[in-house]
Amino acid sequence: MTIALIVHGGAGSWRPGSDADAIEGTTLAVDAGRKILEAGGSALDAACAAAMVLEDNPIFNAGTGAVLNYDGYVEFDACVMVSEGAQIGSVSALQRVKNPILVARQVMEETDHVMLTGEGALRFARVMGHGDHDPITPARFDDWKHKKAALDIGIGIGKDAKASLKIREFLRKHPEYAGGTIGVVALDARDVLCAATSTGGVTLKLPGRVGDTPLPGAGTYANKFAACSATGTGEYVIRSLSCRAISEGVERGKSLDDSVAEMLAQMTRDFDADVGFIAIDANGNAVANHSTTHMPHAWFRDESDIIAKMHV
Ligand code: GLY
Repeated sequence: MTIALIVHGGAGSWRPGSDADAIEGTTLAVDAGRKILEAGGSALDAACAAAMVLEDNPIFNAGTGAVLNYDGYVEFDACVMVSEGAQIGSVSALQRVKNPILVARQVMEETDHVMLTGEGALRFARVMGHGDHDPITPARFDDWKHKKAALDIGIGIGKDAKASLKIREFLRKHPEYAGGTIGVVALDARDVLCAATSTGGVTLKLPGRVGDTPLPGAGTYANKFAACSATGTGEYVIRSLSCRAISEGVERGKSLDDSVAEMLAQMTRDFDADVGFIAIDANGNAVANHSTTHMPHAWFRDESDIIAKMHV
């Protein structure tokens, strides 16, 4: 009977001088989930509790403090998946709620659907009692203003519509402009695995853009062999269906470590992708790996201390 939980705070280039905040934030999230697992609670409850701690921490790109899209507002993507019964709930392009992961969970528990999007997701959130919440922090707004100005000047958006095609190239050359994501994977004492992922997406994304996070099999996945949460540029994760492939690797007999490492190698080869993963297998082995400079993450297993690191 093993319990384990791992969280990440987003793959990318972490702001210089803020490592301690990321270490503290991820540790607090693991602690919240750990208390639930140790009391015999479910992987779902533990993953959602940990995800909410990360969403409520403005240094991470999820919930309060998430990044702004090109038009200057926040659109959330979030997903939760439970191995038992392949239960999934997901939201995309959801605006103005405090905890998107809870809305995703309610889609799973209260509807016949897997995903709600945009206006429909917002209407559902309000019906479920989620009040209006402005997630934009002054720091994120200033950040958006500067990045948008740099983008406009740097590649001529506004002067030439075709220049918008260069957003992708710009973000590629300047990974510090990308957003990040938060994610949690948990294993409970009943051997149930759960993955939860939540994000504001990538900075300056076009309104309506949906990333990998809410797409089961891409940014979030759980089956009885392994559960996984992805971070990094979602367009590459979607093309690779990364989290499903990692679980499938374990199902076919690979170690979790190898399955994650092979997916990273494949994505580097195919796309030179800036991504990261956390995952746990049915035995409670927890793995974090990434191709970016940083990916703050923290985990525990059974009686172990919580271990938190900025990169593997
Ligand atoms: N991985 C988060 C996103 O691309 O939206």
